[in-house]
Amino acid sequence: MGEIISIVSQKGGVGKTTTAVNLCASLARLNRKILLIDLDPQGHVSTSFGFGKFDIKGGIYDVIHSSMNIEDTIHSTNITNFDLIPSNFDNEEDGKNYYIAPLKELKLKNILSSLKSHYEFIFIDCPPSLSNATSNALVSADSIIIPIQCEYYALKALGKLLKLTRAIKKHYNPELQYRGFLLTMVDLRNNLSKRVMNKVRYTLKGLVFETMIPRNIRLAEVPYYGKPAIEFDKSCKGSTSYLELAKEILNQDGTTDSNLFKNLTPREEPVSKQMKVIN
Ligand SMILES: Nc1ncnc2c1ncn2[C@@H]1O[C@H](COP(=O)(O)OP(=O)(O)O)[C@@H](O)[C@H]1O
Ligand SMILES: [Mg+2]
Repeated sequence: MGEIISIVSQKGGVGKTTTAVNLCASLARLNRKILLIDLDPQGHVSTSFGFGKFDIKGGIYDVIHSSMNIEDTIHSTNITNFDLIPSNFDNEEDGKNYYIAPLKELKLKNILSSLKSHYEFIFIDCPPSLSNATSNALVSADSIIIPIQCEYYALKALGKLLKLTRAIKKHYNPELQYRGFLLTMVDLRNNLSKRVMNKVRYTLKGLVFETMIPRNIRLAEVPYYGKPAIEFDKSCKGSTSYLELAKEILNQDGTTDSNLFKNLTPREEPVSKQMKVIN
């Protein structure tokens, strides 16, 4: 049975989509059969693969709202082992509904359960909010990855996300695990980045991936090339880091200490008190 991993954070621009696209491509290169589902109506996963509006024969919101069969929304990519289900493009004129019903319907979970036997990993790229869409992704998931951008307010707002995650684990999905927190856009030449990294590792204890994703222009060029970085520059730092992350995930023993779910309470304060204030 495949594992469903949701990539979540209510903060925009922290690297969720970049992680989804490049991590999935790396796992596909390592011969794992992958499905990536874009739950964000912004449709950035589709643009990362060069799909335009008219290339999409049906998206995840067609399955949620009309009775389109999920199999009919699976699009193959040019990459072996890598399929995706796009989001419908968020187009105000098309009258489509991007609302997902409250949790109790467990609709997304039920829809996805039929696919678990076809893939080794199913990833869900979430929108930047703690909306019903994200809640449903947490209910449907076996585990989660939370990207943390290595910047000053890195831990701010994490409290709300962890609170939601704990509530969902308690009431709807007791098996939910952390795969890990992922430091993204790291620049170790920069002291602030180093301090943030240390603070995040200290606060989140053993739950932070060893692998960190550096700031790398090739990753930002993914939508321009219309393919994951590993497909146009396999030796750049961005590609090699996501490949390392894929290997780290395959080597994890798959369990996290459930006490950590209870005990993780990152303080919602800026990263470093030692930093000098510039007057
Ligand atoms: N490691 C990185 N190095 C350089 N640019 C990055 C990196 N990760 C993400 N980006 C860029 O930062 C922006 C936000 O990333 P994205 O993955 O779309 O975040 P999210 O999905 O969380 O909103 C995008 O323009 C993306 O290309
Ligand atoms: Mg995104």
